[in-house]
This record gives sequence, structure tokens and C-alpha cells, in this order.
Amino acid sequence: MALRKIVLEGDEILRKKTKDVKEINGRICELLDDMWETLEEHNGVGLAAPQVGVLRRIAVVNTGEDGVKVELINPRITESSGTAEEEEGCLSIPGFVGTVNRPERVRVEALNRQGETVAMEGEGLLAKALCHELDHLDGILFIDKATDVRSLEDDA
Ligand code: CO
Repeated sequence: MALRKIVLEGDEILRKKTKDVKEINGRICELLDDMWETLEEHNGVGLAAPQVGVLRRIAVVNTGEDGVKVELINPRITESSGTAEEEEGCLSIPGFVGTVNRPERVRVEALNRQGETVAMEGEGLLAKALCHELDHLDGILFIDKATDVRSLEDDA
């Protein structure tokens, strides 16, 4: 495993649409392992492949809630309901937060490392994180959707 460098806002790779993973091979598994290590190093909730410079539909989410560590290959939101307005940030936009309106509950289908289709339902923080990471896979950042974006330094 190895730490990967996080791509910061302003780099156009974060604005590109990612491509589906065609074959889950050793390189993809290594990428996933590296993404977990990088996410943990930065105490993040989620990380999407474009944030480490890879234009594939891959993301990892760890909400810190018991046992919620999800690995997503080719994820799609298949259902969503409700709305929740919450503050969020992004490892690619350090030092900033914004208020974003997201679905309160989502159902996501993805592949796991074994290539099996898995479905998961998330609400609250998990729903927010899933939506945030899936947006990354389409080149969308939270600052595009936030009703307000502010520097954390303003709070100091
Ligand atoms: Co992000």
C-alpha cells in the first residue's frame, strides 16, 4: 500500500467524468488499498478516484460509524428520497466548508472487489457521503451545489 497525493481544486482532472471499471484486476485492488490508506491519513470520510488522479468510477467511504466502510466500483444511485441540508467539506478543497442540499436517503448499487453487485442503503451522514463521492465521479464538487461556501479561518 502507498499513500497517494490528493489532487486539489483547480486541477481540471477533478472536472472530468470518470469511466466505468471494465475489469477488477490487481491494479484496481491496489488503487483501492491506496485510497483507504490515503483517506485514513487525512481523517477523511470519503475519497473518489479522481482525487488521486485516476479517472475511474471508484470511491471509498468511511463514516466512522460502526462498521460502515464501503468500497464502491461503478456505483450508481438507484433511489433517493427526502432532503437534508448539511455542512460538508472535501479533501480536495482544504479549509473550506459549505451547506449542501442532498437527499436524506439513497440506495446505491455498485460492484465489490469480487465483481459482485452489492446494494446499500444510506441515510444521514452515509447518504451525504455517498452523494458527495458519486458527484466526484461526474466531475462535480460540493462548491458547485453549496448555498454558501466559507473559509474555516473565518471561524477562528
Ligand atoms: Co470531496
